[in-house]
Amino acid sequence: MEIKDIIMQRRTIRLFEQKPVPETEIRNMLDCARTSSCASNLQQLRFIVIQDLELVKEVFQHTAWANLVKPRRTPEWGVTAPQCFIAVIVDTNANPTIHADAGAAIQSMQIMAWSKGIGCCWLGSVKRDKLKIILELPQNKQVLYLLAVGYPAESPISEDISIDQPVYYYLDDENRLHVPKINLDDLTRWR
Ligand SMILES: Cc1cc2nc3c(=O)[nH]c(=O)nc-3n(C[C@H](O)[C@H](O)[C@H](O)COP(=O)(O)O)c2cc1C
Repeated sequence: MEIKDIIMQRRTIRLFEQKPVPETEIRNMLDCARTSSCASNLQQLRFIVIQDLELVKEVFQHTAWANLVKPRRTPEWGVTAPQCFIAVIVDTNANPTIHADAGAAIQSMQIMAWSKGIGCCWLGSVKRDKLKIILELPQNKQVLYLLAVGYPAESPISEDISIDQPVYYYLDDENRLHVPKINLDDLTRWR
């Protein structure tokens, strides 16, 4: 697949098949994360791969999914839940640019995964205080984001919209997730 197709066709996945993601695929994703752009090349992100199912279950309990279409894109443990999480760990006093570093790394992981038929959900609505305990983080570290990873059990699609249309994602009558994206010309000025 062309790189543009991989990037444009990737959609957030929130319902997963119940089969494990091979370690080689996770390692490929992490290789892409660690070589992504970051401010001053400081490389301050750390990663925890959570694949032990007992631990995945514990972490899963402290996540929130697709608020706009709740509860139909909230995965169910043992039925549609992710098989793995990658936790992005940062210093509690990190510079705000760490969010940009994390964004670059997470997008790289998502693209790598998608190219192999693997879906992800970038999770910012997580209970960081609980995760800190579960993952036994030292006082000066915290989970910035989680990335849920697994084989997709849904097929969301994007649709181009104009800048004055609603951007809210929604489910159609067949329970398919639609993700509106503002078209290029409405977003861009060329000078
Ligand atoms: C910073 C950030 C935080 C997010 N947090 C959540 C979250 O907590 N739960 C969730 O279901 N999706 C979360 N998402 C996924 C977005 O809802 C999703 O990217 C958006 O709806 C666009 O869909 P797309 O990724 O398919 O383009 C997050 C995305 C970003 C970039």
